[in-house]
Order: sequence, then C-alpha cells, then structure tokens
Amino acid sequence: MKILILLALFGLGLGQHNPHIKNGRTAIVHLFEWRWADIAAECERFLGPNGFGGVQISPPNEHIVLNNPWRPWWERYQPISYNLCSRSGSEDELRDMITRCNNVGVNIYVDAVINHMCGASGGEGNHSSCRSWFNAGTKDFPSVPYSHWDFNDNKCKTGSGEIENYGDINQVRDCRLGSLLDLALEKDYVRGKVADYLNKLIDMGVAGFRVDACKHMWPGDLAAVYSRVHNLNTTWFPNGSRPFIYQEVIDLGGEPITSREYFHLGRVTEFKYGAKLGTVFRKWNGEKLCYTRNWGEGWGFMPDGNALVFIDNHDNQRGHGAGGASILTFWDPRLYKMAVGYMLAHPYGVARVMSSFRWNRYIVNGKDQNDWMGPPSHINGSTKPVPINPDQTCGDGWVCEHRWRQIKNMVIFRNVVNGQPHSNWWDNQSNQVAFGRGNRGFIIFNNDDWDLNISLNTGMPGGTYCDVISGQKEENRCTGKQIQVGSDGRAHFWISNRDEDPFVAIHVESKL
Ligand SMILES: *[C@@H]1O[C@H](CO)[C@@H](O)[C@H](O)[C@H]1NC(C)=O
Ligand SMILES: *[C@@H]1O[C@H](CO)[C@@H](O)[C@H](O)[C@H]1NC(C)=O
Ligand SMILES: *[C@@H]1O[C@H](CO)[C@@H](O)[C@H](O)[C@H]1NC(C)=O
Ligand SMILES: *[C@@H]1O[C@H](CO)[C@@H](O)[C@H](O)[C@H]1NC(C)=O
Ligand SMILES: *[C@@H]1O[C@H](CO)[C@@H](O)[C@H](O)[C@H]1NC(C)=O
Ligand SMILES: *[C@@H]1O[C@H](CO)[C@@H](O)[C@H](O)[C@H]1NC(C)=O
Repeated sequence: MKILILLALFGLGLGQHNPHIKNGRTAIVHLFEWRWADIAAECERFLGPNGFGGVQISPPNEHIVLNNPWRPWWERYQPISYNLCSRSGSEDELRDMITRCNNVGVNIYVDAVINHMCGASGGEGNHSSCRSWFNAGTKDFPSVPYSHWDFNDNKCKTGSGEIENYGDINQVRDCRLGSLLDLALEKDYVRGKVADYLNKLIDMGVAGFRVDACKHMWPGDLAAVYSRVHNLNTTWFPNGSRPFIYQEVIDLGGEPITSREYFHLGRVTEFKYGAKLGTVFRKWNGEKLCYTRNWGEGWGFMPDGNALVFIDNHDNQRGHGAGGASILTFWDPRLYKMAVGYMLAHPYGVARVMSSFRWNRYIVNGKDQNDWMGPPSHINGSTKPVPINPDQTCGDGWVCEHRWRQIKNMVIFRNVVNGQPHSNWWDNQSNQVAFGRGNRGFIIFNNDDWDLNISLNTGMPGGTYCDVISGQKEENRCTGKQIQVGSDGRAHFWISNRDEDPFVAIHVESKL
C-alpha cells in the first residue's frame, strides 16, 4: 500500500517535469510583455512554422498600475486579483491566443505570481489593470477576495516585516520580498484561491506554469497547491497529462535554500547556466570554452531532468535577480548569439529563448538607472503592438531575438538533433570547440582571437550542407557558407575570428 502511494506521488511529480511539447519540438520562448493579440499572430505566422514548442507569457492576472516610476515592467509582478485582464489584454483575447497557439502546435506557459500581492505601499483605489478596487494598507483585495487574515505578517519575525537575511529560511519564506504583501499559502483558503486561478487557465488550454519567486514559498505549500490543479485540457493534450511546472529558484550556491528542495515538484530554473556560460564566452576569470567539454551536470548544475535553462531572463538582463555582469543579452549580440547557439545545440535541460524589448539602458557605477522601464507604450500607458518589418525583424523597440536568423535556425537545429547524444567533441585547449549530436548535427565555435582552420570528424553522413548561422537552406540553395562532409564524416572548417558570427552549424535537414 505504502509503495503504491509512493509510486503514485512519484508519477505525479514526473508529469510536472514534462513540458508536453508537441510534434518533436524542443524549445520555448519568453515573449516578455507581449500583448495576447500579438502572441496569437506570432504563433500562427512565425512560431508554429519555425518549430518553436511554446511561449512563456507575462502574468495574465490583474495587476497594479504604477505611476512612479511610470508603468514599470514590474507592475505585472504585483497582483491585485486573479481576474484575467492585464496590460497584455482581456480574458477574451487571452482565450483566443491560447486557442490559436494550441491549434498550430505551440504551447502556452503562464508566469504565475502566487507568492504575494502588490507592494505594501501600493495605496488604495482602482489603479489596477481591470480597475478593481483594493487597499494595500489594510491588505484588502475584494476581487479575490483576500483580507488581512490571508497574509503572513504574523509569522514573520523581523522588525521591518521584510526579508533581512537570506541565511534565515523562515525570513525568506514568511517575510515580505521587497515590501510585497506575502500570502499565507499555508491556509487552505489561500491555496484554494490560487488553485482556482491556475485551474481556470488549465481549462482554457495552457500547458503549464513558470512559478515566480518559489524560493519564497515553502515546498510543502507548493505541493499542496499543485496537488489541486487539474490535468491538461484533453482538446489539445493526452488524457491524464499533468501541467508542466518550472519554478523560479535563484540558487547560485551559498544560501541555505537550494534548488534541490523543489526537484520533486517540477523543474527548476538553473541560474548557474547563463551566469557560467556568460563568464566563459566573455573569457572572464580565466574561463575558456574548452572547459565546457563536460557542460551540464559536470559543472555542478542540477540533474538534467530538473533543469530549465536560459542565457538571460527578464530580470537578469537588466541587472535584477541573479547572475551579475556576466549575463549575456541582446546588448552584446555577437557573444549572445554564440551563447544561445551553444545552449540550443547542447542536450542539457529544457531550453528557453528570451525575447525582449529595448529600453534606454543607462549604467552608472554598474547599476542600470533605467532598469524599471516597461514595454514600448503609447502615451496613455497601453502597450504598443509588435509591428513586423519587411525584413521580418520587429519594430517599435521590440527586439525579437527569437526571430534573429542564427537563433531561429538553432531552435530548428535542436529539434532536428533531439534525442541524439553529445558526440565528436573537439577543442584546441582554448576557445575553439566543436561537438556533434550523434549523426544528425554538428556545431563549431571560434571564440579565440585568431582564425580557425581545421578538418574534423563530424559524425555526419557525406554530402554538402548549408551552414544555418551565416545563412540557411532556401529551396535547394544555400544563402550562407557551404560545408562539404566526406564519406568518412570529415569536413573542413575555416572560421575567421573577424566573421560576423564566428560559429558554424549544420544538421541533416540543412543538407543540400
Ligand atoms: C472601483 O472599484 C469599485 C469596487 O470594485 C467599483 O465599485 C467602482 O466602480 C470602481 N470605480 C471605477 C471608477 O472603476
Ligand atoms: C477544453 O477546451 C475546449 C476548447 O476551448 C473547451 O470547449 C472545453 O470546455 C475545455 N475543457 C475543460 C475541462 O474546460
Ligand atoms: C482519462 O483518464 C482518467 C484517469 O486519469 C480516466 O478515469 C478516464 O477514463 C480517461 N478518459 C478517457 C476518455 O480515456
Ligand atoms: C491608448 O492609445 C492608443 C494609441 O493612441 C489607442 O490605440 C488605445 O486605444 C488607447 N487605449 C486606451 C485604453 O485609451
Ligand atoms: C587553437 O587552435 C588553433 C588552430 O585552430 C591553433 O593554431 C592554436 O595554437 C590553438 N591554441 C591553443 C592554445 O592550443
Ligand atoms: C587552412 O589549412 C589548409 C591545410 O589544412 C591550408 O592549405 C590552407 O591554406 C589554410 N587556409 C588558411 C586561410 O589559412
């Protein structure tokens, strides 16, 4: 009997580690702050046709509207209720997006903010995205409803009511994170309200959740919430599918709370991944690309089956969250493309690509003074649509890294090599490395300050391949470099350190 129960629990846990991505796709993209109408269109015109498996969307629930600073991106991380109207659109628009994305095989993952409500100094009134009234001072949120009984302040033992010491587990989980009103997830009532919110989204057809600020919630409370969520909607997912759960836990080591405490509940964001790969590509601290031969668990990262990996996220691309100055972003495009390419070629983890908006970055003494800036907006504060230029790039301040040829083609590469082992490693004991994925794909990087000119065993079938970094296969011609692979699997690569993108990638579907 006990064994049966354990097996059932274990099975439940495993379900929540599976992203349920359809049609052999493998990577997801975070369309940070995009409107639902734009995401729906992007699923149909770009993500579906280019093999993207899913989208992480910004929080869809009602949030505070802030004026000082003016409409910062973080207002989305200050819930007012679980009504589904936000800066990205209405409930109808959300439902339409979920349906249209599912219909082209692209999953939707919701950024779920369930640790807290708005900041304690959020004031009183209707300054919220659905114009619901609330009073942060008295902790009154009638649209849920939550009242002061539903918050943790009595449990928190610090004088300020804030987290003062990350070395104290109780503070981290029972006190306020940056003044945000901390929900009492130990209460059955609060768990029920959160589960109702998640279940409404599941029934609408989402595939899972990125759960915000999990370090600040007790794993036992999360387990109780997760045990109440429905299986995925069988219109789009196999009967019995558990929602995919990936939890934000910033664990770079050195704190008592670790990622490991959350492994049985779902996947966990591996923040060491982008911090370390950024350090390697920047060649800081004596790091070299050749040291990544055992990239993944060999670098002390969490077990493969638990990891959600990314080069940058919406926090650390602007100096928030973890990782520091080594994090690569679209502001360093040459190194960024290589790092994202490396991630997408490498088998470790479920990979997430970032898609950002531009802001007026202004760094003084290592701190970005404009790290608060919200998405491209009209004067009245509403988010601007994402216009697509004739050359397929995006306008109006939307960066659309996921549309960059090199990144889009590496998303396809990851699909083509899915399930194949890391193979045929080569390095020059410096910053030139190459590896394959069985006999399905091969990638080679030159991050040294001199040319690379070498013949290597690729493990690939003989033939002429189109490099998907400098160009791509279109009809039966190649717009980039061509790579000849001999019948022995060997190919010659020449990559100048002055190339626009000093890396080359080929896969069996780029064969001419
Ligand atoms: C403010 O919120 C209250 C309670 O939800 C509602 O009755 C009232 O109509 C709202 N006012 C405005 C101007 O929307
Ligand atoms: C699943 O989605 C379909 C299509 O939107 C909807 O008709 C159905 O009611 C949903 N199922 C549940 C259990 O909500
Ligand atoms: C779906 O799965 C549940 C158990 O998870 C089972 O009770 C039910 O019969 C299944 N329905 C179908 C249509 O297979
Ligand atoms: C805000 O301004 C834009 C552009 O003028 C307009 O399209 C939109 O409808 C306005 N939204 C609101 C809520 O007033
Ligand atoms: C790196 O590789 C190149 C050949 O591609 C070689 O000339 C160079 O000496 C190598 N560097 C080191 C440190 O081995
Ligand atoms: C690359 O190496 C080959 C020998 O392997 C040599 O013939 C060729 O000249 C080299 N090319 C450059 C640009 O150094």
